[in-house]
Amino acid sequence: MLFDPFAEGFLDDPYRHYAKVREQERVHFSPLLNQWMITGYAEIQTMLRDPRIGRGDTTRFFGAFEPESPVDLFSREWIFGMDPPDHQRLRRLLGQSFTPRVIDSLRPFVQSRVDELLDEAVADGGMDVISDFAYGLPAAVICRMLDIPMDAWEDCKRYSAQALPLVDPGITPEQLALANESAVWFTDFFGALVRERQKNPGDDLLSAFCQAEYKGDRLSDEELVQNAIFLFVAGHETTTNLIGNGLYALLRHPEQYAALTARPDLVPNAVEEMLRYDSPVQYVGRVALEDTEVGGVAIAKGTGILGVVGAGNRDADRFPDPDAFDIDRPDCQPLSFGHGIHFCIGSALARMEAHTAFAALLERTRLRLVKAERRPLFAMRGLAELTVEVTGPD
Ligand code: HEM
Repeated sequence: MLFDPFAEGFLDDPYRHYAKVREQERVHFSPLLNQWMITGYAEIQTMLRDPRIGRGDTTRFFGAFEPESPVDLFSREWIFGMDPPDHQRLRRLLGQSFTPRVIDSLRPFVQSRVDELLDEAVADGGMDVISDFAYGLPAAVICRMLDIPMDAWEDCKRYSAQALPLVDPGITPEQLALANESAVWFTDFFGALVRERQKNPGDDLLSAFCQAEYKGDRLSDEELVQNAIFLFVAGHETTTNLIGNGLYALLRHPEQYAALTARPDLVPNAVEEMLRYDSPVQYVGRVALEDTEVGGVAIAKGTGILGVVGAGNRDADRFPDPDAFDIDRPDCQPLSFGHGIHFCIGSALARMEAHTAFAALLERTRLRLVKAERRPLFAMRGLAELTVEVTGPD
């Protein structure tokens, strides 16, 4: 078998496995996943722009789940799972709240949260970057944007983590049961928040969604609740992994860490390289809505297709010396935020958070890697733990 994500050591280095597949077939049918896998950069872009390829009703998740079960019901109206024209409608209504002005207005909050978290880490002389920094920052930002009470935070965190295996191959019945439990909790929790904001609107994102209008069209109650849940989960799990994976890459490449410390103006480019080198989202799922072809390979209507962005980001045809981590890489445009109509709504926000976080880490700390451990997830690639020793810059 050419591709086996369950193989020993896969999570440590999936890129070696992707490369093996790409060397033989850039568009490869995996009997194990029962899907096409696309591992070439150009082919992934072509696939994500092809109107004959979309979501259908099957590509929100990998695993089989009961129709009308909580996970089915809580995700039907996600913008992420829609095809045109419904997708365009939701994108207009939700996208209104992700303007450069909104992102800019969050900068002072992000900076103060970063400073607070680093004050603690410096005082303690060490931290687990994931739980003490990379998680706390995006979580506080999305909670502030949606105005979620902080006392709900522990529940939000737990139920969010329980839902993630939904986007992985090989979800177990136990994991599915926990994901269903999450779906029930999130629907109740966000349902109550939406009802409250409809009655007493504030200046938060959820209130903005309740009032969003385009040519007389508004979001239905189900669309409001389900997309608020999606944004909440998408808005922090991924950014946590960008900071965690990015810092881990820096710590394992001391010469790059030193170079970035000497040239902090390279932080924006370094963040693009972090996204490319170890992408927080490893693949995006689609289905052929009609018979089509990608890279000269025929794909029959109804077949699942995975755009393996983690692989496309290491394609030597697009990135010279693709397995090198180079913060000064020219023309670094990874596929990590997707491509085409579903391109990430939160990319500017995630970049702003990461730029602020890395600039402050470089200015205020010197870090030494103590321990790193991967999360056992394929699609949402990240670390469960990244313990470092923290000293000041001198
Ligand atoms: C879509 C990655 C942060 C909200 C996507 C997609 C990717 C992605 C790959 C496309 C999925 C597809 O085509 O199937 C990331 C990464 C992030 C990040 C790597 C952080 C480093 C965020 C944040 C938010 C967000 C902070 C919001 C607060 C969304 C939404 C979509 C999306 C709503 C769906 C857009 C649509 O379907 O039109 N993201 N994301 N993401 N992302 Fe992000």
